[in-house]
Amino acid sequence: MFFQPMHQSSTDWKRSVRCDLVPKAHHHPVHCGLVDSKDPKAIRANLFQSIPMDVTVSAAARLSNPAFASPHIEAWLHGCHVDAPVSSNIGANDLPFQRWMKFKEAFSPTFVINALASLPEVPTSCVDPFGGSGTTALTCSFLGIEITTIEVNPFLADLIEAKITPSRASSLASAYAQVLDISRGTKVDAKTVLASAPKSLREPGVNGRFVFWAEAIDRILAIRAAIESVESPKSRRLLTVLLGSILVEASNVVVNGKGRRYRGSWMSRRIGPGEVDELFEQSVRRAAADLARFGARRRAPAKVLHGDSRILLGGIAQTDVAVFSPPYPNSFDYTDVYNLELWVLGYLDSSESNRTLRLSTLRSHVQVRWDELARAQKSSTLKLTLSKLARKRDQLWDPHICEMIAGYFADMKTIFESLATVLRPAGHAIVVVGDSCYASVQVPTAKILQEVAMDSGFVVVSDTPIRSMRNSAQHGGKHELDERCLVLRRK
Ligand SMILES: C[S@@+](CC[C@H](N)C(=O)[O-])C[C@H]1O[C@@H](n2cnc3c(N)ncnc32)[C@H](O)[C@@H]1O
Repeated sequence: MFFQPMHQSSTDWKRSVRCDLVPKAHHHPVHCGLVDSKDPKAIRANLFQSIPMDVTVSAAARLSNPAFASPHIEAWLHGCHVDAPVSSNIGANDLPFQRWMKFKEAFSPTFVINALASLPEVPTSCVDPFGGSGTTALTCSFLGIEITTIEVNPFLADLIEAKITPSRASSLASAYAQVLDISRGTKVDAKTVLASAPKSLREPGVNGRFVFWAEAIDRILAIRAAIESVESPKSRRLLTVLLGSILVEASNVVVNGKGRRYRGSWMSRRIGPGEVDELFEQSVRRAAADLARFGARRRAPAKVLHGDSRILLGGIAQTDVAVFSPPYPNSFDYTDVYNLELWVLGYLDSSESNRTLRLSTLRSHVQVRWDELARAQKSSTLKLTLSKLARKRDQLWDPHICEMIAGYFADMKTIFESLATVLRPAGHAIVVVGDSCYASVQVPTAKILQEVAMDSGFVVVSDTPIRSMRNSAQHGGKHELDERCLVLRRK
Protein backbone atom coordinates (compact mmCIF):
# COMPACT_ATOMS: atom_id res chain seq x y z
CA MET A 1 0.00 0.00 0.00
CA PHE A 2 2.86 2.40 -0.63
CA PHE A 3 2.07 5.65 -2.35
CA GLN A 4 4.46 6.68 -5.06
CA PRO A 5 7.68 8.51 -4.21
CA MET A 6 8.13 12.16 -5.03
CA HIS A 7 11.03 11.62 -7.35
CA GLN A 8 10.15 10.37 -10.78
CA SER A 9 11.60 8.20 -13.46
CA SER A 10 13.29 9.85 -16.39
CA THR A 11 10.42 8.86 -18.69
CA ASP A 12 7.86 10.54 -16.45
CA TRP A 13 9.15 14.06 -16.14
CA LYS A 14 8.17 15.49 -19.51
CA ARG A 15 4.54 14.71 -18.81
CA SER A 16 4.50 16.30 -15.40
CA VAL A 17 6.29 19.59 -16.00
CA ARG A 18 3.93 22.49 -15.93
CA CYS A 19 3.84 25.80 -17.71
CA ASP A 20 6.96 27.81 -17.16
CA LEU A 21 5.99 31.30 -16.14
CA VAL A 22 9.40 32.69 -15.61
CA PRO A 23 10.22 35.00 -12.72
CA LYS A 24 10.28 38.61 -13.91
CA ALA A 25 13.91 39.05 -12.92
CA HIS A 26 15.01 36.64 -15.64
CA HIS A 27 13.21 38.19 -18.66
CA HIS A 28 13.60 35.25 -20.97
CA PRO A 29 11.08 33.65 -23.31
CA VAL A 30 8.41 31.53 -21.64
CA HIS A 31 8.68 27.89 -22.63
CA CYS A 32 5.28 26.21 -22.44
CA GLY A 33 5.87 23.21 -24.66
CA LEU A 34 5.39 20.63 -21.92
CA VAL A 35 2.07 21.76 -20.49
CA ASP A 36 -0.73 19.27 -20.16
CA SER A 37 -3.54 21.66 -21.08
CA LYS A 38 -6.25 19.31 -19.77
CA ASP A 39 -4.85 19.65 -16.30
CA PRO A 40 -6.39 22.78 -14.77
CA LYS A 41 -3.50 23.01 -12.35
CA ALA A 42 -1.08 23.13 -15.29
CA ILE A 43 -1.29 26.90 -15.66
CA ARG A 44 0.81 27.57 -12.64
CA ALA A 45 4.03 29.40 -12.35
CA ASN A 46 7.07 27.21 -12.46
CA LEU A 47 9.93 29.24 -11.11
CA PHE A 48 13.40 28.35 -12.38
CA GLN A 49 12.14 25.97 -15.08
CA SER A 50 13.62 26.12 -18.58
CA ILE A 51 15.84 29.07 -17.89
CA PRO A 52 18.21 29.28 -20.85
CA MET A 53 21.78 28.34 -20.03
CA ASP A 54 23.16 31.76 -20.96
CA VAL A 55 20.88 33.34 -18.34
CA THR A 56 22.13 30.85 -15.72
CA VAL A 57 25.74 31.46 -16.73
CA SER A 58 25.28 35.25 -16.38
CA ALA A 59 23.66 34.66 -12.98
CA ALA A 60 26.68 32.55 -11.99
CA ALA A 61 29.02 35.32 -13.11
CA ARG A 62 27.12 37.85 -10.95
CA LEU A 63 27.31 35.53 -7.94
CA SER A 64 30.94 34.56 -8.36
CA ASN A 65 33.29 35.61 -5.60
CA PRO A 66 36.47 36.72 -7.42
CA ALA A 67 38.65 35.47 -4.54
CA PHE A 68 37.66 31.82 -4.97
CA ALA A 69 35.33 31.31 -7.95
CA SER A 70 36.28 28.90 -10.69
CA PRO A 71 36.42 30.41 -14.18
CA HIS A 72 35.19 27.02 -15.47
CA ILE A 73 31.59 27.04 -14.26
CA GLU A 74 30.17 27.42 -17.78
CA ALA A 75 32.20 24.42 -18.95
CA TRP A 76 31.04 22.45 -15.93
CA LEU A 77 27.37 23.18 -16.65
CA HIS A 78 27.70 22.33 -20.33
CA GLY A 79 25.27 19.54 -21.21
CA CYS A 80 22.76 20.32 -18.45
CA HIS A 81 19.20 19.87 -19.81
CA VAL A 82 17.38 23.07 -19.00
CA ASP A 83 13.89 21.66 -19.70
CA ALA A 84 14.17 18.92 -17.06
CA PRO A 85 12.63 19.60 -13.64
CA VAL A 86 15.17 21.51 -11.58
CA SER A 87 14.14 19.69 -8.41
CA SER A 88 15.35 16.37 -9.81
CA ASN A 89 18.74 15.04 -10.95
CA ILE A 90 17.47 14.24 -14.44
CA GLY A 91 18.87 17.24 -16.30
CA ALA A 92 22.25 17.29 -14.56
CA ASN A 93 23.03 13.60 -14.17
CA ASP A 94 25.80 13.65 -16.77
CA LEU A 95 27.65 16.67 -15.46
CA PRO A 96 31.21 16.17 -14.24
CA PHE A 97 31.16 15.12 -10.55
CA GLN A 98 27.37 14.71 -10.54
CA ARG A 99 27.80 11.63 -12.75
CA TRP A 100 29.95 9.88 -10.15
CA MET A 101 26.86 8.59 -8.36
CA LYS A 102 23.28 8.64 -9.60
CA PHE A 103 21.36 10.30 -6.80
CA LYS A 104 17.74 10.60 -7.80
CA GLU A 105 16.83 12.94 -4.98
CA ALA A 106 19.27 15.67 -6.04
CA PHE A 107 18.22 19.04 -7.38
CA SER A 108 20.04 20.71 -10.25
CA PRO A 109 23.07 23.02 -9.92
CA THR A 110 21.17 25.44 -12.17
CA PHE A 111 18.48 25.61 -9.50
CA VAL A 112 21.06 26.56 -6.87
CA ILE A 113 22.50 29.28 -9.12
CA ASN A 114 19.17 30.79 -10.17
CA ALA A 115 17.71 30.59 -6.67
CA LEU A 116 20.73 32.38 -5.21
CA ALA A 117 20.64 34.95 -8.03
CA SER A 118 17.00 35.75 -7.23
CA LEU A 119 17.99 37.04 -3.76
CA PRO A 120 18.58 40.76 -3.17
CA GLU A 121 22.19 40.23 -2.03
CA VAL A 122 25.13 38.21 -3.27
CA PRO A 123 26.04 35.73 -0.52
CA THR A 124 29.61 34.89 0.46
CA SER A 125 28.69 31.90 2.63
CA CYS A 126 26.04 29.18 2.43
CA VAL A 127 24.84 26.17 4.41
CA ASP A 128 23.05 23.01 3.29
CA PRO A 129 21.88 20.97 6.30
CA PHE A 130 20.75 18.04 4.10
CA GLY A 131 23.69 17.59 1.75
CA GLY A 132 22.62 14.44 -0.18
CA SER A 133 24.91 14.16 -3.20
CA GLY A 134 26.36 17.62 -2.53
CA THR A 135 24.75 19.72 -5.27
CA THR A 136 24.62 22.90 -3.18
CA ALA A 137 28.15 22.30 -1.90
CA LEU A 138 29.63 21.65 -5.33
CA THR A 139 27.84 24.57 -6.97
CA CYS A 140 28.92 26.95 -4.22
CA SER A 141 32.46 25.63 -4.48
CA PHE A 142 32.45 26.57 -8.20
CA LEU A 143 30.89 29.98 -7.41
CA GLY A 144 33.48 30.74 -4.75
CA ILE A 145 30.83 30.84 -2.00
CA GLU A 146 32.07 29.37 1.28
CA ILE A 147 29.98 26.29 2.04
CA THR A 148 29.16 24.16 5.05
CA THR A 149 27.12 21.06 4.41
CA ILE A 150 25.77 18.44 6.81
CA GLU A 151 24.90 14.89 5.81
CA VAL A 152 23.95 12.04 8.12
CA ASN A 153 24.49 9.17 5.69
CA PRO A 154 28.25 8.43 5.93
CA PHE A 155 28.51 7.16 2.36
CA LEU A 156 26.86 10.31 1.01
CA ALA A 157 28.98 12.52 3.28
CA ASP A 158 32.08 10.88 1.76
CA LEU A 159 30.65 11.40 -1.73
CA ILE A 160 30.24 15.14 -1.04
CA GLU A 161 33.71 15.38 0.44
CA ALA A 162 35.23 13.58 -2.56
CA LYS A 163 33.55 16.07 -4.91
CA ILE A 164 34.46 19.27 -3.12
CA THR A 165 37.99 18.41 -2.03
CA PRO A 166 39.07 16.77 -5.26
CA SER A 167 42.17 14.62 -5.64
CA ARG A 168 44.51 14.94 -8.58
CA ALA A 169 43.72 12.68 -11.53
CA SER A 170 47.28 11.35 -11.36
CA SER A 171 46.88 10.40 -7.66
CA LEU A 172 43.64 8.61 -8.49
CA ALA A 173 45.33 6.72 -11.33
CA SER A 174 48.21 5.51 -9.18
CA ALA A 175 45.96 4.59 -6.23
CA TYR A 176 43.73 2.66 -8.64
CA ALA A 177 46.71 0.76 -10.08
CA GLN A 178 47.80 -0.12 -6.54
CA VAL A 179 44.29 -1.32 -5.64
CA LEU A 180 44.06 -3.52 -8.73
CA ASP A 181 47.42 -5.01 -7.97
CA ILE A 182 46.72 -5.75 -4.30
CA SER A 183 43.14 -6.91 -4.85
CA ARG A 184 44.27 -9.65 -7.28
CA GLY A 185 46.04 -11.40 -4.44
CA THR A 186 43.40 -10.62 -1.80
CA LYS A 187 41.01 -13.29 -0.58
CA VAL A 188 38.19 -12.07 1.62
CA ASP A 189 35.97 -14.28 3.70
CA ALA A 190 32.68 -12.72 2.59
CA LYS A 191 30.65 -14.64 5.16
CA THR A 192 32.66 -13.10 7.99
CA VAL A 193 32.73 -9.60 6.51
CA LEU A 194 28.99 -9.64 5.87
CA ALA A 195 28.07 -11.62 8.98
CA SER A 196 25.64 -8.98 10.25
CA ALA A 197 24.39 -7.80 6.86
CA PRO A 198 21.03 -8.97 5.48
CA LYS A 199 21.33 -12.58 4.33
CA SER A 200 19.77 -11.66 0.99
CA LEU A 201 22.89 -9.69 0.05
CA ARG A 202 25.00 -12.64 -1.16
CA GLU A 203 24.18 -15.82 -3.06
CA PRO A 204 22.52 -18.20 -2.02
CA GLY A 205 20.43 -15.46 -0.34
CA VAL A 206 16.97 -16.14 1.02
CA ASN A 207 14.41 -18.31 -0.75
CA GLY A 208 16.52 -18.40 -3.89
CA ARG A 209 16.78 -14.61 -4.18
CA PHE A 210 19.97 -12.66 -3.63
CA VAL A 211 21.26 -9.19 -4.44
CA PHE A 212 24.78 -10.18 -5.58
CA TRP A 213 26.16 -13.30 -7.20
CA ALA A 214 28.78 -14.74 -4.84
CA GLU A 215 31.61 -14.20 -7.34
CA ALA A 216 30.61 -10.56 -7.85
CA ILE A 217 30.38 -9.62 -4.19
CA ASP A 218 33.60 -11.50 -3.39
CA ARG A 219 35.42 -9.42 -5.99
CA ILE A 220 33.84 -6.20 -4.68
CA LEU A 221 34.96 -7.07 -1.14
CA ALA A 222 38.50 -7.82 -2.36
CA ILE A 223 38.62 -4.37 -3.98
CA ARG A 224 37.23 -2.81 -0.80
CA ALA A 225 39.97 -4.52 1.27
CA ALA A 226 42.64 -3.33 -1.17
CA ILE A 227 41.32 0.24 -1.00
CA GLU A 228 41.80 0.14 2.78
CA SER A 229 45.54 -0.24 2.21
CA VAL A 230 45.82 2.98 0.16
CA GLU A 231 47.78 5.50 2.18
CA SER A 232 46.22 8.78 1.05
CA PRO A 233 42.88 9.38 2.84
CA LYS A 234 41.63 11.41 -0.15
CA SER A 235 42.33 8.64 -2.64
CA ARG A 236 40.89 6.06 -0.25
CA ARG A 237 37.70 8.04 0.10
CA LEU A 238 37.37 8.66 -3.62
CA LEU A 239 37.95 5.00 -4.55
CA THR A 240 35.44 3.89 -1.91
CA VAL A 241 32.85 6.28 -3.34
CA LEU A 242 33.57 5.10 -6.89
CA LEU A 243 33.23 1.47 -5.81
CA GLY A 244 29.93 2.43 -4.19
CA SER A 245 28.74 3.99 -7.42
CA ILE A 246 28.87 0.64 -9.29
CA LEU A 247 27.06 -1.48 -6.72
CA VAL A 248 23.55 -1.18 -8.09
CA GLU A 249 24.74 -1.91 -11.63
CA ALA A 250 26.71 -4.93 -10.37
CA SER A 251 23.69 -6.23 -8.44
CA ASN A 252 20.50 -8.07 -9.32
CA VAL A 253 18.28 -5.21 -8.16
CA VAL A 254 17.35 -1.72 -9.23
CA VAL A 255 16.28 1.25 -7.14
CA ASN A 256 12.53 1.35 -7.17
CA GLY A 257 10.82 4.21 -5.37
CA LYS A 258 11.42 3.66 -1.69
CA GLY A 259 13.36 0.43 -1.96
CA ARG A 260 14.76 -2.08 -4.38
CA ARG A 261 13.21 -4.58 -6.72
CA TYR A 262 14.77 -7.46 -8.58
CA ARG A 263 15.55 -6.84 -12.24
CA GLY A 264 13.41 -8.66 -14.75
CA SER A 265 15.22 -11.92 -15.68
CA TRP A 266 18.01 -11.22 -13.20
CA MET A 267 18.83 -14.94 -13.04
CA SER A 268 20.14 -14.83 -16.60
CA ARG A 269 22.18 -11.65 -15.99
CA ARG A 270 25.12 -13.25 -14.27
CA ILE A 271 27.60 -10.64 -13.03
CA GLY A 272 31.06 -12.00 -12.23
CA PRO A 273 34.45 -10.57 -11.25
CA GLY A 274 35.21 -9.48 -14.83
CA GLU A 275 32.08 -7.33 -15.03
CA VAL A 276 32.82 -5.84 -11.59
CA ASP A 277 36.33 -4.89 -12.73
CA GLU A 278 34.97 -3.37 -15.92
CA LEU A 279 32.36 -1.28 -14.10
CA PHE A 280 34.92 -0.11 -11.56
CA GLU A 281 37.38 0.84 -14.27
CA GLN A 282 34.70 2.84 -16.13
CA SER A 283 33.80 4.65 -12.95
CA VAL A 284 37.47 5.48 -12.18
CA ARG A 285 38.02 6.66 -15.77
CA ARG A 286 35.00 9.00 -15.60
CA ALA A 287 36.19 10.47 -12.31
CA ALA A 288 39.77 10.82 -13.58
CA ALA A 289 38.51 12.68 -16.66
CA ASP A 290 36.49 15.07 -14.44
CA LEU A 291 39.44 15.60 -12.13
CA ALA A 292 41.76 16.26 -15.03
CA ARG A 293 39.39 19.01 -16.27
CA PHE A 294 38.21 20.51 -12.99
CA GLY A 295 40.20 18.99 -10.12
CA ALA A 296 42.71 21.80 -9.86
CA ARG A 297 40.05 24.52 -10.11
CA ARG A 298 40.03 27.46 -7.76
CA ARG A 299 37.37 26.79 -5.16
CA ALA A 300 35.84 28.20 -2.03
CA PRO A 301 36.60 26.82 1.45
CA ALA A 302 34.20 23.96 2.12
CA LYS A 303 33.29 21.92 5.19
CA VAL A 304 31.38 18.63 5.32
CA LEU A 305 29.96 17.78 8.73
CA HIS A 306 29.14 14.09 9.07
CA GLY A 307 26.08 13.67 11.26
CA ASP A 308 22.62 14.80 12.25
CA SER A 309 21.77 18.38 11.28
CA ARG A 310 19.22 18.59 14.11
CA ILE A 311 22.24 18.53 16.41
CA LEU A 312 25.05 20.02 14.30
CA LEU A 313 23.38 22.94 12.52
CA GLY A 314 23.18 25.22 15.57
CA GLY A 315 26.95 24.99 16.07
CA ILE A 316 28.17 26.34 12.72
CA ALA A 317 29.49 29.85 12.08
CA GLN A 318 27.18 32.68 10.99
CA THR A 319 26.13 32.23 7.37
CA ASP A 320 24.52 34.42 4.69
CA VAL A 321 22.15 31.92 3.12
CA ALA A 322 20.85 28.34 3.25
CA VAL A 323 19.88 26.28 0.18
CA PHE A 324 18.49 22.83 0.81
CA SER A 325 15.95 20.12 0.24
CA PRO A 326 15.14 18.08 3.34
CA PRO A 327 13.66 14.59 3.11
CA TYR A 328 9.91 14.88 2.44
CA PRO A 329 7.36 13.38 4.85
CA ASN A 330 6.72 10.60 2.35
CA SER A 331 8.01 7.59 4.32
CA PHE A 332 11.13 7.45 2.12
CA ASP A 333 13.92 5.95 4.23
CA TYR A 334 17.33 7.07 2.95
CA THR A 335 19.09 4.45 5.09
CA ASP A 336 17.09 1.76 3.30
CA VAL A 337 17.43 3.14 -0.18
CA TYR A 338 21.23 3.45 0.10
CA ASN A 339 21.69 0.26 2.12
CA LEU A 340 23.74 -1.58 -0.53
CA GLU A 341 26.42 1.09 -0.37
CA LEU A 342 26.26 1.25 3.44
CA TRP A 343 26.58 -2.50 4.05
CA VAL A 344 28.92 -3.50 1.25
CA LEU A 345 31.39 -0.67 1.87
CA GLY A 346 31.44 -1.32 5.63
CA TYR A 347 29.72 1.87 6.80
CA LEU A 348 27.22 -0.41 8.54
CA ASP A 349 28.44 -3.52 10.32
CA SER A 350 25.67 -4.49 12.71
CA SER A 351 21.93 -4.20 13.06
CA GLU A 352 22.62 -1.74 15.88
CA SER A 353 24.58 0.59 13.58
CA ASN A 354 21.73 0.38 11.07
CA ARG A 355 19.20 1.33 13.73
CA THR A 356 21.41 4.15 15.04
CA LEU A 357 21.69 5.63 11.56
CA ARG A 358 17.94 5.39 11.02
CA LEU A 359 17.34 7.14 14.32
CA SER A 360 19.71 9.92 13.26
CA THR A 361 17.71 10.68 10.12
CA LEU A 362 14.83 13.09 9.99
CA ARG A 363 11.54 11.46 10.99
CA SER A 364 10.31 11.06 7.42
CA HIS A 365 9.78 7.30 7.54
CA VAL A 366 8.19 4.63 9.71
CA GLN A 367 11.08 2.14 9.70
CA VAL A 368 11.86 2.76 13.36
CA ARG A 369 9.53 3.78 16.14
CA TRP A 370 10.42 6.96 17.94
CA ASP A 371 9.87 6.94 21.69
CA GLU A 372 9.17 10.61 22.14
CA LEU A 373 5.94 12.31 21.29
CA ALA A 374 6.48 15.20 18.91
CA ARG A 375 6.54 18.69 20.36
CA ALA A 376 3.21 20.49 20.14
CA GLN A 377 3.18 22.94 17.24
CA LYS A 378 1.35 26.15 16.56
CA SER A 379 0.74 25.40 12.86
CA SER A 380 -3.04 25.24 12.37
CA THR A 381 -2.60 23.43 9.04
CA LEU A 382 -0.53 20.76 10.78
CA LYS A 383 -3.15 20.36 13.53
CA LEU A 384 -5.90 19.99 10.92
CA THR A 385 -3.85 17.50 8.89
CA LEU A 386 -3.03 15.43 11.96
CA SER A 387 -6.66 15.28 13.05
CA LYS A 388 -7.73 14.17 9.54
CA LEU A 389 -5.05 11.47 9.58
CA ALA A 390 -6.04 10.36 13.09
CA ARG A 391 -9.64 9.88 11.91
CA LYS A 392 -8.37 7.61 9.12
CA ARG A 393 -5.82 5.76 11.22
CA ASP A 394 -7.38 2.37 10.39
CA GLN A 395 -7.03 3.05 6.64
CA LEU A 396 -3.35 4.05 6.80
CA TRP A 397 -0.89 1.44 5.50
CA ASP A 398 1.09 1.91 8.72
CA PRO A 399 -0.55 2.89 12.00
CA HIS A 400 2.44 5.09 12.93
CA ILE A 401 2.09 7.54 10.06
CA CYS A 402 0.44 10.17 12.30
CA GLU A 403 3.44 10.08 14.66
CA MET A 404 5.83 10.20 11.72
CA ILE A 405 4.15 13.35 10.34
CA ALA A 406 4.12 15.02 13.78
CA GLY A 407 7.77 13.99 14.32
CA TYR A 408 8.78 15.26 10.87
CA PHE A 409 7.46 18.76 11.48
CA ALA A 410 8.89 18.82 15.01
CA ASP A 411 12.29 18.00 13.46
CA MET A 412 11.85 20.73 10.86
CA LYS A 413 11.02 23.16 13.67
CA THR A 414 14.37 22.28 15.26
CA ILE A 415 16.06 22.93 11.90
CA PHE A 416 14.37 26.33 11.43
CA GLU A 417 15.14 27.36 15.00
CA SER A 418 18.82 26.50 14.48
CA LEU A 419 18.82 28.29 11.13
CA ALA A 420 17.38 31.38 12.78
CA THR A 421 20.44 31.51 15.04
CA VAL A 422 22.94 30.66 12.31
CA LEU A 423 21.75 32.87 9.44
CA ARG A 424 22.75 36.49 9.65
CA PRO A 425 19.85 38.95 10.22
CA ALA A 426 17.81 39.20 6.97
CA GLY A 427 19.66 36.13 5.63
CA HIS A 428 17.57 33.85 3.40
CA ALA A 429 16.71 30.16 3.40
CA ILE A 430 15.72 28.55 0.08
CA VAL A 431 13.91 25.28 0.70
CA VAL A 432 12.59 22.70 -1.78
CA VAL A 433 9.88 20.42 -0.37
CA GLY A 434 7.11 18.14 -1.58
CA ASP A 435 3.62 17.17 -0.44
CA SER A 436 2.50 13.70 0.56
CA CYS A 437 -0.82 11.93 0.70
CA TYR A 438 -2.03 9.13 2.98
CA ALA A 439 -5.51 7.57 2.78
CA SER A 440 -6.56 10.55 0.61
CA VAL A 441 -5.41 13.02 3.25
CA GLN A 442 -3.13 15.58 1.64
CA VAL A 443 -0.10 16.66 3.72
CA PRO A 444 0.59 20.18 2.38
CA THR A 445 4.25 20.21 3.39
CA ALA A 446 5.21 23.67 2.11
CA LYS A 447 2.17 25.29 3.72
CA ILE A 448 2.87 23.68 7.09
CA LEU A 449 6.57 24.52 6.86
CA GLN A 450 5.73 28.18 6.24
CA GLU A 451 3.72 28.23 9.46
CA VAL A 452 6.50 26.38 11.32
CA ALA A 453 9.14 28.78 9.93
CA MET A 454 7.09 31.86 10.87
CA ASP A 455 6.92 30.48 14.40
CA SER A 456 10.73 30.07 14.39
CA GLY A 457 11.83 33.59 13.46
CA PHE A 458 11.30 33.76 9.66
CA VAL A 459 9.08 35.70 7.28
CA VAL A 460 7.89 34.06 4.08
CA VAL A 461 9.17 35.84 0.98
CA SER A 462 7.73 33.48 -1.65
CA ASP A 463 6.20 30.07 -2.17
CA THR A 464 6.50 28.89 -5.77
CA PRO A 465 5.43 25.60 -7.36
CA ILE A 466 8.26 23.78 -9.11
CA ARG A 467 6.39 20.76 -10.40
CA SER A 468 3.58 18.43 -9.64
CA MET A 469 4.16 14.76 -9.03
CA ARG A 470 1.99 11.75 -9.45
CA ASN A 471 0.03 10.38 -6.58
CA SER A 472 -0.03 6.62 -6.04
CA ALA A 473 -2.17 4.37 -8.19
CA GLN A 474 -4.40 3.94 -5.11
CA HIS A 475 -5.00 7.69 -5.18
CA GLY A 476 -5.70 7.77 -8.92
CA GLY A 477 -2.14 8.43 -10.11
CA LYS A 478 -2.97 12.10 -10.79
CA HIS A 479 -0.48 14.95 -10.61
CA GLU A 480 -1.61 16.16 -7.21
CA LEU A 481 1.52 16.24 -5.10
CA ASP A 482 3.16 19.64 -5.33
CA GLU A 483 6.86 20.18 -5.07
CA ARG A 484 7.51 23.81 -4.12
CA CYS A 485 10.30 26.27 -3.45
CA LEU A 486 9.99 28.36 -0.30
CA VAL A 487 12.09 31.47 0.17
CA LEU A 488 12.23 32.55 3.82
CA ARG A 489 13.94 35.54 5.39
CA ARG A 490 15.30 35.66 8.91
CA LYS A 491 13.71 38.45 10.92
C1 LIG B 1 16.49 15.32 -0.63
S1 LIG B 1 18.06 14.76 -0.11
C2 LIG B 1 19.06 16.15 -0.45
C3 LIG B 1 19.51 16.20 -1.88
C4 LIG B 1 20.47 17.31 -2.19
N1 LIG B 1 19.80 18.59 -2.25
C5 LIG B 1 21.19 17.04 -3.51
O1 LIG B 1 21.04 17.82 -4.45
O2 LIG B 1 21.88 16.02 -3.61
C6 LIG B 1 17.95 14.79 1.65
C7 LIG B 1 19.21 14.30 2.36
O3 LIG B 1 19.03 14.55 3.76
C8 LIG B 1 19.76 13.55 4.45
N2 LIG B 1 19.31 13.53 5.86
C9 LIG B 1 18.21 12.94 6.40
N3 LIG B 1 18.16 13.17 7.71
C10 LIG B 1 19.23 13.95 8.03
C11 LIG B 1 19.71 14.53 9.24
N4 LIG B 1 19.07 14.36 10.39
N5 LIG B 1 20.85 15.26 9.18
C12 LIG B 1 21.52 15.44 8.01
N6 LIG B 1 21.12 14.90 6.84
C13 LIG B 1 19.98 14.18 6.83
C14 LIG B 1 19.48 12.28 3.66
O4 LIG B 1 20.45 11.29 3.92
C15 LIG B 1 19.52 12.81 2.23
O5 LIG B 1 20.78 12.64 1.68
